[in-house]
Amino acid sequence: FDGTLRFYLNGTKVVLDDIDPEVTVLEYLRGIGLTGTKLGCGEGGCGACTIVVSQFNPTTNQIYHASVNACLAPLVSLDGKHVITIEGIGNTKRPHPTQERVAMGNGSQCGFCTPGIGHELVRAAAQHDAPTEHEVEEVFGPVCVVGKFTTESEALQLCND
Ligand code: FES
Repeated sequence: FDGTLRFYLNGTKVVLDDIDPEVTVLEYLRGIGLTGTKLGCGEGGCGACTIVVSQFNPTTNQIYHASVNACLAPLVSLDGKHVITIEGIGNTKRPHPTQERVAMGNGSQCGFCTPGIGHELVRAAAQHDAPTEHEVEEVFGPVCVVGKFTTESEALQLCND
């Protein structure tokens, strides 16, 4: 890390200088208006702040998708990675299939943590072609996964389908 932070945020390149090492990803996202990522417990327990962080590993030639608690992750940890927030996976005209299914199944209660749940489901879709109920339950754990995609554009495509 050379003091300039470079990463992709929902498909757009971000370059930042003079980063405060104590700023979290959650503080940064909410500060730029991406308020779909919520502050719940602030200590890694509730998942309301969940984002998906993807990184290409040149050794394995695979992209790793990880669910990350944005309330705990320092902003500087994003260097060289691709961040997908809830704003990056769908919109009011065309929701992501996981958002659609949560909505159609009345999966939200107050809705505060729904973005975090949606992101875990996106990660489940990256890990399994047709996840079983058990596999979906498993993916709600904080585990880094190896995606089935081999290029960053394929990972992006997942989030745009
Ligand atoms: Fe609860 Fe981050 S706000 S895990």
